[in-house]
Amino acid sequence: MGVDFDSDLGKLQRLMAESIAGTTRRNAILNELQIQAGNTIIDVGCGAGHLLTHLAKAVGDSGTIYGLDPSKAQLDQARKRCSEFENINYIEKNADQSQLENNSCNSVTSTQALEYVPDVEPALDEITRILKSGGAFVNVSILWDHFKFYGADEKLNGKVHEAYRAHCSHQMLPMELPGKLERRGFENIKDRSLAFVITRRNGNSPARYSEALMANFALTQGLSAEEILDWKSQLERAEQQGRFGFTSFPVLTSASLSQR
Ligand SMILES: C[S@@+](CC[C@H](N)C(=O)[O-])C[C@H]1O[C@@H](n2cnc3c(N)ncnc32)[C@H](O)[C@@H]1O
Repeated sequence: MGVDFDSDLGKLQRLMAESIAGTTRRNAILNELQIQAGNTIIDVGCGAGHLLTHLAKAVGDSGTIYGLDPSKAQLDQARKRCSEFENINYIEKNADQSQLENNSCNSVTSTQALEYVPDVEPALDEITRILKSGGAFVNVSILWDHFKFYGADEKLNGKVHEAYRAHCSHQMLPMELPGKLERRGFENIKDRSLAFVITRRNGNSPARYSEALMANFALTQGLSAEEILDWKSQLERAEQQGRFGFTSFPVLTSASLSQR
């Protein structure tokens, strides 16, 4: 069972997108895409559309943005957020069913979405099909094995993290992407770490949202409410005592499709 992005976790997702981690990630993507006015760009798994507004501004009125996501609830939020832009089109489909024309996009981007697609191969085939020769693919996915809290009792902490593994299909997608892209004719394949560490949290810390997401999910995987309360209070205590930590390791993978 995966994360339910339509539920109140959507609120945490929004707060996360607006945190420093979300902003840093979006800036890195926009920088890598080298957008020009008039471009056509698709954001695969666009969620609530935080990147779409930036893409829409960058391509201008002569450009076209597609936001693809299978979740109606997410696209409804995206429509609301992006209501002032007329150059954004929404596609309520899975990543392997964009239904766009062959060679129609200057760039394809995706943020923390492909790791949730159980069979990522047809999704990458689709991305390759719709990308123009020489077009850019920019993906950010998290190395989930390094998405970790420190400071709670080791055994309980391990149990919570182990339960969280079921929240997505691919724990280490960035390690597998280069080969998958190379086999599809991509070149200039580069990886860039967007890793961060947090040892002190404020109210708007990505570590707080991540803790809540992980705790909610662990509850759906059979951990008891008591265990989750314990885990949270142990983290809180660790922080008060200056021995708390949270690490996340997003990776930006960029590549260009060789001329066909
Ligand atoms: C963690 S959210 C990321 C949303 C957005 N890219 C962001 O960075 O805020 C993951 C998104 O992937 C979408 N998703 C899940 N399965 C998908 C699929 N098969 N194809 C495309 N998107 C999918 C979810 O609906 C959700 O909106």
